[in-house]
Amino acid sequence: MTPQDIIQQYDRSPDHLLSILHDLQDADEHHYLPEQNLRRAAEYLGLPFSFVYGVATFYTMFSLKPRGRYIIRICQSPPCHLMGATTILRELMKLLGIPMGETTRDDFFTLEMSSCLGVCGVAPAMMINDEVYGNLTAERIREILEEKRRGT
Ligand code: FES
Repeated sequence: MTPQDIIQQYDRSPDHLLSILHDLQDADEHHYLPEQNLRRAAEYLGLPFSFVYGVATFYTMFSLKPRGRYIIRICQSPPCHLMGATTILRELMKLLGIPMGETTRDDFFTLEMSSCLGVCGVAPAMMINDEVYGNLTAERIREILEEKRRGT
């Protein structure tokens, strides 16, 4: 489905802006919103581009730059922080060879920060795309990254 097809599934109401942006980002192979798609959505909904751009930059779930196949969101809220999220983050940055907010050269992983993922009982936790992982340890992180690289 083209970006225009995605947009045209919705009525021309500004109320649909967030849903449209979500769908456009989900459909993009690099999980982001190119400026051209923001312009398409703005034009279709009759909104100023600056408004749509403002919405896309306000919400952390949207990205305006290309991201990897797997988006790792590490929870940094207090319960996870207390349970060692900083150590997990350090391990992730070491294993991936990238700082927070960046994407690996092979376009496989993007590392992002997240607030509470709603699974504080298994802190420290992270999400990879739509999947949640809890009770993280340095060893478990290594296994998970290996599983993803192998495509399992
Ligand atoms: S604080 Fe990390 S999942 Fe709730």
